[in-house]
Amino acid sequence: VGRGVLERLARELAAEPPGRPLVPISDDRVAVLHAEPLARRLRHGGVEVLPVLRFPAGEASKIRETKARLEDQLLRLGVGRDAAILAVGGGVTGDLAGFVASTWCRGIPVVHVPTSLVAMADAALGGKTAVNARGAKNRVGTFHQPWGVYADVSLLATLPDAEYANGMAEVVKTAAVGDASLFRWLEGAVERLLARAPAAQAHAVEACLRVKARIVRRDERDCGRRAALNFGHTVAHAIEAASAYREPHGRAVALGMCAEARLACRRTGFPASHLRRLETLLAALGLPTRLPAGRRWGTRSLLAAARSDKKARAGRLRCALPRRLGRMPAGDDVTCEIDDAALSAALGALAARGPRSD
Ligand SMILES: NC(=O)c1ccc[n+]([C@@H]2O[C@H](COP(=O)([O-])OP(=O)(O)OC[C@H]3O[C@@H](n4cnc5c(N)ncnc54)[C@H](O)[C@@H]3O)[C@@H](O)[C@H]2O)c1
Repeated sequence: VGRGVLERLARELAAEPPGRPLVPISDDRVAVLHAEPLARRLRHGGVEVLPVLRFPAGEASKIRETKARLEDQLLRLGVGRDAAILAVGGGVTGDLAGFVASTWCRGIPVVHVPTSLVAMADAALGGKTAVNARGAKNRVGTFHQPWGVYADVSLLATLPDAEYANGMAEVVKTAAVGDASLFRWLEGAVERLLARAPAAQAHAVEACLRVKARIVRRDERDCGRRAALNFGHTVAHAIEAASAYREPHGRAVALGMCAEARLACRRTGFPASHLRRLETLLAALGLPTRLPAGRRWGTRSLLAAARSDKKARAGRLRCALPRRLGRMPAGDDVTCEIDDAALSAALGALAARGPRSD
């Protein structure tokens, strides 16, 4: 993690390549900005690199059809089991290219070069790969640990503001579930982060990856504690669905954390003062803490969407709830079952015009 990481990647790939050739995969936006220049730099350093395989940018491409198209291209290029995939892009590229790598010739190495804040601070590490199937998010996928993850924060310079905000929500989430001192640091670093100071970005990304690595090492296959990383996401998915995906993921996660922190106040003893700190930090980072005014969807449609969420096992809704900022409950099960009345009260509080309504 840091600046100048791509030089190190070039050196390491030249010295000991995980596969030959290297096949870069990227979306069409990031291909031009970062994947093509990186491929040229690697070739210049003597690494055997094929042309960049591209797909249209956006979540809509994270589907089985795109995977099949990429595999057809690998076939045409005669790529065999000695190759390795180089995933250059956001979380969509990482999930898709990681999935391709995990099944190509029964599995070839993948190297991640994340380019969005979501991918750097979260998605590139941990080995989860997936595509969506008929709208069911991440329904088809594998666990396939990367050969390496090289997060060069200088690539964030071209990231649009809305995408940066999406990443910030995941950074706050990671601090909230796993690192109280990172949370405190974020509270003091808001201006530097909003100004996109590279040193601050590198600190935040590295701290998030440490938290994620610690959690994943303990529960690689997502059977227990890894659910901590879903804090805010049960309600976030409901907000995304109820708003017909007009609310961007990061804003939905911010709102989801505010709702779920309220649930945590009742269920795990999460201090009310920590709820206020969470809301203050999110608001300072430009993320919402109250449902948007003038929205067409009400708390009733949110409740319906929450119930149909995949985490509603056997008709019951579960949320991963911290005990305090930076700390999850002990043990393997970090989720609590939430009944409709509690959820509706928490959502009601989000709908109320609060001091930080945006
Ligand atoms: N595998 C995991 O553990 C994990 C964790 C979190 C999220 N995810 C997945 O990640 C995806 C979201 O990731 P995302 O937000 O990065 O989405 P994304 O990959 O679609 O990137 C968002 C947008 O930013 C653009 N972009 C990326 N880097 C850029 C850069 N440096 N400069 C300019 N534009 C850039 C992309 O072209 C795209 O338009 C979701 O599909 C989610 O399910 C996976």
